[in-house]
Order: sequence, then structure tokens, then C-alpha cells
Amino acid sequence: MLTDLKIAFIGGGTMGEMIINRLLSTKTVEKSERIIVSDPLSAQCLHLEKEYGVRTTNCNIEAVQGASIVILAVKPQVLAEVMAMLKGKIPPDALVISIVGGVSILSLCQGLNHAAVVRTMPNIAVQVGHGTTVWSLSSTVTEIQRSHTQVILQALGKEFATQNEHYLDMATALSSAGTGFVFLYIEAMIDAGVRMGLTRTQAQELTLHTIAGSVELMFHTSEHPAVLRNKVTSPGGVTAAGLYELEKGGMRTVISNAVLAALSRTQELGNMS
Ligand SMILES: NC(=O)c1ccc[n+]([C@@H]2O[C@H](COP(=O)([O-])OP(=O)(O)OC[C@H]3O[C@@H](n4cnc5c(N)ncnc54)[C@H](OP(=O)(O)O)[C@@H]3O)[C@@H](O)[C@H]2O)c1
Repeated sequence: MLTDLKIAFIGGGTMGEMIINRLLSTKTVEKSERIIVSDPLSAQCLHLEKEYGVRTTNCNIEAVQGASIVILAVKPQVLAEVMAMLKGKIPPDALVISIVGGVSILSLCQGLNHAAVVRTMPNIAVQVGHGTTVWSLSSTVTEIQRSHTQVILQALGKEFATQNEHYLDMATALSSAGTGFVFLYIEAMIDAGVRMGLTRTQAQELTLHTIAGSVELMFHTSEHPAVLRNKVTSPGGVTAAGLYELEKGGMRTVISNAVLAALSRTQELGNMS
């Protein structure tokens, strides 16, 4: 799919490794030696070489030499140092794809002195090919580079392009931090099951299948969640009793406030970097 393109990863940590894994396991990249990873940790480099057959280096400049695609997968805290090192060193016709949270396309273009940049916001579910990635691109990205981006992101799950970069901050709050919110909900349901007397395993199985089934039903019917909720809420019934407690506890407002707090924080971190 990306035959014979050299792909350089700057940072081979959690996200970098997940993306490499998906690119190779889906055969989006057929030859592992076309991938080179730069990471300061020699133990991580050895692990990546052994596990995936990719090439590694401790030198970012060496990694980007001759690369067609450069994937920035470092933490925002080290990005300034990385960009200073790579400034003017990335081949002019290469595409830079950043997964770094909160850093704008303008900052990336200026920091790297590079024109073709795609900013993405994936989430942790890329690990199993069910990720959600929202992405936006600089005006100089070519049609071919655009389709390469789509091919890469489709190996990770669903991808949604947007021309409005502000949506990436919203995606950070809703679909990236959102995974953390969902995990907390799952944990609370499992704990409630245990409190009633189920084993943790039973409670986890019931909770996960309930959530997966509800999601599947929504995808299948495309009905508004309130319509589906009303279908399971009989007058004076069991669900109504539970829903009353959720509303009394302010569940909607708490969730809405959590997402908006995540949005403010991502904007704050973006301004700092
Ligand atoms: N985790 C998520 O769910 C998620 C979701 C969306 C986006 N992101 C974004 O993905 C990016 C990476 O996150 P992560 O969770 O993969 O972080 P991570 O596990 O810390 O990976 C970053 C890697 O970069 C390496 N590194 C540090 N300094 C470097 C340098 N100067 N040159 C090259 N590599 C360097 C780190 O090595 P050391 O360990 O030795 O420092 C580490 O292996 C972040 O910007 C984050 O905002 C993460």
C-alpha cells in the first residue's frame, strides 16, 4: 500500500509502537525495514527491532534522511527540542504527520521549517484497530500525501478529516480523553456488580457486553439515544428507578463538565507549547 516509502518515527514509545504494529500487521507497510524509529532509549530500540524487524537509531537526523513520511510521536514536553534539532533537516518533499497532543499545524511548520504537515489526534484504541483519529492538514499537502495519510490512519481505525483545526482540540477532549471517561464508567459498573454480589469476572463480562451491545444497536438503528433509552424504561420500572438516581447525581452535567475541562486543558497545554 505504501510500497517502498521510507517511514521515519521520531519517538518509539507507547503510541509509536502501536502505530508500527498496526502498519505491519495490516500489511499497510509490507517491508518492516522500510520503517526506521528514532528513540533515545536503547532498550526500546532493541525491543522494536526484535519484535517488528524495523530499523532503529538514537539519532533523529539520521532517521529522517531520505524519508517520505516522518511521524512525530514524542511527548509535547520534548517537541521544541526535537523540532530545533530537525529544523531544515527533513527532506522538503516529505510529509510530516504529528500525533503530538495540542500542537498546532502553524507551530509544527514554523518549528520544523517544513511545509507539508498533517496534525492528527488518535486515541488509544488504535492498538486494536478501532481507533478514532481526527486530522487536519496544511495547505501544501499534496493529493498523494493526503491519500498516504488516509491509508496510514485507516490501518488504525476510523479517520475523520477536518479543515477546521479547532476540531482537533475538541476531538482531544471527546474521543481521546473520552476513552478515559468511558473506562471510569466501566470501572464503576463493574464495582457496582461486585457490590451486588457478582464476581469481578462476571461483572466485567456483563458490563462489557452490555456496553458493546448498546453501541452496536446505536450503529445499527441510528436512533437517538433517548429513543432507545425510552424503549427500555417501562413506567414505574427497574430502569426508571436507576435512571432517576443517575439524573439526581447530575450525570449529564458531570460528563459535560468533564469534556469541557478536558477541552480547556488541551487548549492551555497547546498555548504553553
Ligand atoms: N497515549 C495516548 O493515548 C495518546 C493519544 C493521542 C495522542 N498521543 C500523543 O502521542 C504522543 C506520544 O505519546 P506516548 O504515549 O506514545 O508517549 P511515550 O510512550 O512517552 O513515547 C514517546 C517516546 O519518545 C521518546 N523520546 C523522548 N525524547 C525524544 C527525542 N528527543 N527524540 C526522539 N524520541 C524521544 C521517548 O523516549 P523516553 O521514554 O526515553 O523519554 C518515548 O519512547 C504524545 O505527544 C501524546 O500527546 C497520545
